[in-house]
Amino acid sequence: MIRLGVNIDHVATLRQARKGRTPDPVEAALVCERAGCDSIVCHLREDRRHIQERDVFLLKDIVKTKLNLEMAAAEPIIKVALQVKPHQVTLVPEKREELTTEGGLDVAGQQTRLAAIVSSFKEKGIAVSLFIEAEERQIEAARTLQADSVEFHTGRYAEAEDETSSMKELNRLTRAAELALSTGLKVFAGHGLDYRNVVAICRLPGLEELNIGYSIIGRAVFCGLEQAVREMHHLIRTYEKKNT
Ligand code: PXP
Repeated sequence: MIRLGVNIDHVATLRQARKGRTPDPVEAALVCERAGCDSIVCHLREDRRHIQERDVFLLKDIVKTKLNLEMAAAEPIIKVALQVKPHQVTLVPEKREELTTEGGLDVAGQQTRLAAIVSSFKEKGIAVSLFIEAEERQIEAARTLQADSVEFHTGRYAEAEDETSSMKELNRLTRAAELALSTGLKVFAGHGLDYRNVVAICRLPGLEELNIGYSIIGRAVFCGLEQAVREMHHLIRTYEKKNT
């Protein structure tokens, strides 16, 4: 079964636009769970542009499914994460000036530094996922670090401008998923996925989890959050019913 993780960062983006109390991402998490999502995802950025520390602590208390904390492998954030003890952390690259996470984490290029960080989470019983590009050397590095899973960056697939480039990206992701599975890593995917492009990604071999934010929160403006999550969930379930 492919699980749906809903990223609620952009509920907090809206709240921070006025630096007020609403809309509250914690309330959003409750609605997403009522709609049947399998996990709640949020990214505590170093610049705190959307999710705040208060959100993460409250989310840990109220989330009944699974809390997946996206984060940079940076000391102050690691400290918070080890206090919060989410069910899972997803290590992502982070640049101050970016609009959203750009590209995957260069695990291969910083293996030694990441090794200590990955084991500090695993020692506390926190599952570790690494957000990477669909590249052999990144998968090998993730396996060496004994990460639990890799989340493949689907941004290039989502941004493909024609059928040929989209197929090329899907093939690249498929080969990467096969390799990751053969090394014992769980396969997750996310970034830029929406109601139109998600079904093709469901075909990735062994895919266990999809993490989706922007398109769901955007759709929620028109039809409500519960309905927006249900629609995405329905697309994934319908794919599975047809293919099992
Ligand atoms: N997965 C990871 C690791 C991410 O960094 C993001 C963006 O925060 C997402 C999934 C969700 O991407 P989107 O908001 O484009 O659906």
